[in-house]
Amino acid sequence: MKALLDSLKPGENDWDLAQSIDPDRLPSHVAIIMDGNGRWARRRSLPRVAGHKAGIESVRATVETCARMGVQILTLYAFSVENWKRPRSEVDTLWRLLHIYVRKELPTLMENDIRMRAIGRLEALPPQVRHDLESTERITAHNRGMLVNLAINYGGRAELVDAVNALLEKARSSGRPSDFRVDEADISSHLYTAGMADPDLLIRTSGELRISNFLLWQIAYAELYVTPTLWPDFRRADLLQAVLEYQKRERRFGGLNLPRPAPDRHLMEAVAFPMK
Ligand code: FPP
Repeated sequence: MKALLDSLKPGENDWDLAQSIDPDRLPSHVAIIMDGNGRWARRRSLPRVAGHKAGIESVRATVETCARMGVQILTLYAFSVENWKRPRSEVDTLWRLLHIYVRKELPTLMENDIRMRAIGRLEALPPQVRHDLESTERITAHNRGMLVNLAINYGGRAELVDAVNALLEKARSSGRPSDFRVDEADISSHLYTAGMADPDLLIRTSGELRISNFLLWQIAYAELYVTPTLWPDFRRADLLQAVLEYQKRERRFGGLNLPRPAPDRHLMEAVAFPMK
């Protein structure tokens, strides 16, 4: 949080918002469904791809603000397994934008100690995209600051299917008995996000109240925040608002986080003066 406050001046835009955030209760992992690029473009009578292009600036601002705030993991939903159904020209533009983004942002990632990884069915991506992602992952692998996961050709169900198949393959190759069973830890450790803490906060832009096959397992206890802001308009203030809202929530993880009851005077007396 200190780096974010140091980057702002008192009275400047977002200073008050940033001041209101409790640095001890930040979400460690923030996941974002970046939605509304097409609508942003349509409202301006522009082609849909103009919305994706404008969305890159939101990605940049979000990565910067999360890193300065002290978020440990940021997971961005950039391309779903269902997105192949879009026109070829739109899909090709998304690959081109990704290429430009990773090339252009690499120096910033290195300067800010940010690691970048791709999660999803990466083997099905065009070779140039795979190459871009693999080289960014390799070059940033030793950075120790925030981790940015780009979910690309990602589907929550596909991820679970892949985890189960990996477990079955392991069981087969190690000659485990046919009554072999798995537990939650086995599944977690075979997801694309193995070894990472689950998201604390899931943000969706553009007002849609859907999960859209994103991180189905990992968001079991995440706090959900939906904003009507379209992704290309999403900036630092929107992110800070989401974190402030997160900090107002009471996270119970299925338990009872009840306020501690005031001591019962009669009970206290009964304990202090046990009846003979
Ligand atoms: C959803 O909006 C957005 C996408 C499918 C693509 C997201 C891609 C980017 C923000 C740019 C590239 C990403 C990176 C990480 C560099 P939509 O097209 O479904 O919008 P609509 O619902 O309004 O049509």
